[in-house]
Amino acid sequence: KESWVLTVMAQTPTNIAVIKYWGKRDESLILPINDSISVTLDPSHLCTTTTVAVSPSFTSDRMWLNGKEIPLSGGRYQNCLREIRSRASDVEDAEKGIKITKKDWEKLHLHIASYNNFPTAAGLASSAAGFACLVFSLAKLMNVKEDNGQLSAIARQGSGSACRSLYGGFVKWIMGKDDKGSDSIAVQLVDENHWDELVILIAVVSSRQKETSSTSGMRETVDTSPLIQHRAAEVVPKRILQMEEAIKNRDFPTFVQLTCSDSNQFHAVCLDTSPPIFYMNDTSHRIISCVEKWNRSEETPQVAYTFDAGPNAVLIARNRKTAALLLQRLLFHFPPQSDADLNSYVVGDKSILK
Ligand code: PMV
Repeated sequence: KESWVLTVMAQTPTNIAVIKYWGKRDESLILPINDSISVTLDPSHLCTTTTVAVSPSFTSDRMWLNGKEIPLSGGRYQNCLREIRSRASDVEDAEKGIKITKKDWEKLHLHIASYNNFPTAAGLASSAAGFACLVFSLAKLMNVKEDNGQLSAIARQGSGSACRSLYGGFVKWIMGKDDKGSDSIAVQLVDENHWDELVILIAVVSSRQKETSSTSGMRETVDTSPLIQHRAAEVVPKRILQMEEAIKNRDFPTFVQLTCSDSNQFHAVCLDTSPPIFYMNDTSHRIISCVEKWNRSEETPQVAYTFDAGPNAVLIARNRKTAALLLQRLLFHFPPQSDADLNSYVVGDKSILK
């Protein structure tokens, strides 16, 4: 029997939405009910590293997440694998004497090993980095000749927010009109150098896994919240245009206003769900009050906050000086209870504070 292994390793950072995606119009294709905008974090922190391998000696597709084997039978993994396999091209490694044809990819099996350097499923968008990295590394291994926009439509079928992690900088996920999802893709608004004075700091309030997954939370909100329709039809389209302008012009006051309002409205639709969903906790609320008070005491806002489907605060400071002050204030008001309670990752800087 032939014995060789061909591997590819890739690293993908997570992204944090500043205009949130919440609610699907098609659950299996993962088509959203509104556009969203996110910022991709620095790849040196909060990222997924994935190694994909192919060998004629592998007898089935298998995957390990943080060293533990997980089933690949779920629809989301299967959709991503099928879409990538159908686009595979010939691969030749002359040095190793390997030649894989398009036809061979249908029969060859894959082993996938993925690591997150941050808590999984704690509302830190681990699935975003994970599926983006999976799709990207498989596309490289199988010599898929699609651009990042097309790859984003595949990553989207793993986890909606994953489509935005294929680019750096600020990224927009266009909801699209097509029933099949061909136009529901991510595009880069500006690259990571455009607004590089921003510093993103994540206060890990709790690294426990969230109680309501985003999938079931979204379903319950769409089914029961009267507010979500208003949000998707009236509020978000206007905010998307304003946010694009604010980002283009590096208009921090408008950016803060939109980011904080959108996070608060996302949590309001969660509260408007029956039964209500609580993602934030007391500490999250206290962080909001603290930032609001600070912003109001200054001539111009200093920090934006946003919370995903969990209690952890993502704080975006206007520059490094403000970030240093923010860290001091956080440590003063929220002294770490234990290592696991409050870790602050300073993203875009080399230091990780524990
Ligand atoms: O892509 P999912 O299923 O992990 O959902 C992400 C939802 C939010 O993080 C709350 C918002 C967003 O746009 O990322």
